[in-house]
Amino acid sequence: MRSVAKYRAARPSLFVSLLFVVLAGVTGVRGLRNTSIEVPPAVAAGSTVNMSCRYDLESDTLYTVKWYYKRQEFFRYVPKEDPPIEMFGDVGAKVVANKSSANNVIMKDVEPNNTGRYKCEVSADFPFFTTLMDSGYMHVASLPKGDPEVNVEKLRYAVGDTVRSNCTVPSGNPPANITWTVNGNQVNSSFVINITDKFIDNHHMAIAGLDFEIAPNSFNNGKLHVVCHASVFHLYQKKAEVLLMEERPILASVLGTRESSYIGNAAKRVEEWFYAGVLATLLLCNLR
Ligand SMILES: *[C@@H]1O[C@H](CO)[C@@H](O)[C@H](O)[C@H]1NC(C)=O
Ligand SMILES: *[C@@H]1O[C@H](CO)[C@@H](O)[C@H](O)[C@H]1NC(C)=O
Ligand SMILES: *[C@@H]1O[C@H](CO)[C@@H](O)[C@H](O)[C@H]1NC(C)=O
Ligand SMILES: *[C@@H]1O[C@H](CO)[C@@H](O)[C@H](O)[C@H]1NC(C)=O
Ligand SMILES: *[C@@H]1O[C@H](CO)[C@@H](O)[C@H](O)[C@H]1NC(C)=O
Ligand SMILES: *[C@@H]1O[C@H](CO)[C@@H](O)[C@H](O)[C@H]1NC(C)=O
Ligand SMILES: *[C@@H]1O[C@H](CO)[C@@H](O)[C@H](O)[C@H]1NC(C)=O
Ligand SMILES: *[C@@H]1O[C@H](CO)[C@@H](O)[C@H](O)[C@H]1NC(C)=O
Repeated sequence: MRSVAKYRAARPSLFVSLLFVVLAGVTGVRGLRNTSIEVPPAVAAGSTVNMSCRYDLESDTLYTVKWYYKRQEFFRYVPKEDPPIEMFGDVGAKVVANKSSANNVIMKDVEPNNTGRYKCEVSADFPFFTTLMDSGYMHVASLPKGDPEVNVEKLRYAVGDTVRSNCTVPSGNPPANITWTVNGNQVNSSFVINITDKFIDNHHMAIAGLDFEIAPNSFNNGKLHVVCHASVFHLYQKKAEVLLMEERPILASVLGTRESSYIGNAAKRVEEWFYAGVLATLLLCNLR
């Protein structure tokens, strides 16, 4: 996701520059090299971001460092000027001038519409006026406010049944990615939809479906551990889970308290079922 380009700016005197090039060739003196940008690939809305532009001047003198967002210059550092820093436009308004420098641009309170490609362009002064640039992409995500929720039709299944489940993640921008595991094995979603938030611009709730037919080897000790994993880059990583039971007459008589449709969020219910399972096991042991 990065590109490096290079060009030489127009120079006042081709002859003088050429002379220096020849001299540099003879003496082994080198100029501006290795310009590279570093921007975080993904940050949460509201964060303060530290972006850096590194370069090796060698024997050159710095003329300017210019920063662009979507081809629009928003920051300029010119050491010869006082003050050396100038900012432009909406993006420039987010720059914290007194923390930014010839190598770093600090942007505060970034928003999803600050997502995009950032470029830094470094120019050396006389005689070579070498200009090098590099760019990097930054996603600014508005994270879901809340946890994913799983929703299953019922809690007990026999071989040949189909588990139908939905996982819903509160709205964010971009919408969360959802994946499923059943007893640790990845299972593809049967559908994924984004539902546009009525109240917040460009926010979408994400819903993914699971449609999983149970095979004889699907159960692990009579259990199916269904987990919905929701993520927005590395910034939001949450899961919701349900523990489903194999339908067996003896278990049914012990665990027959929760029959109907089940809607709930993860861990708490899993815990309940865990204790129910322990209880069932104890009862079964006593019966023997
Ligand atoms: C700088 O660039 C040179 C070649 O242009 C390369 O050999 C060297 O590894 C680079 N150094 C760094 C620190 O990137
Ligand atoms: C930004 O990062 C640079 C290292 O790239 C560090 O030297 C500088 O102190 C940081 N600035 C702020 C304000 O955190
Ligand atoms: C930086 O500038 C802001 C105002 O733009 C000011 O409130 C803050 O105290 C300054 N910080 C430093 C370290 O100079
Ligand atoms: C970016 O979004 C904020 C609100 O999230 C808005 O105030 C601002 O005007 C937007 N900027 C642009 C350039 O669209
Ligand atoms: C899952 O969502 C689909 C589409 O919204 C709906 O038709 C279905 O009834 C839902 N299933 C459950 C178990 O909630
Ligand atoms: C899941 O989806 C991927 C790509 O969309 C596909 O290659 C793979 O075969 C699917 N797996 C199953 C079990 O359907
Ligand atoms: C959901 O929305 C995102 C961004 O708005 C888009 O990239 C993605 O393709 C959408 N997915 C579906 C299944 O509509
Ligand atoms: C969703 O997953 C795709 C493929 O792994 C990835 O390229 C994309 O960045 C992810 N999006 C989010 C919002 O995490």
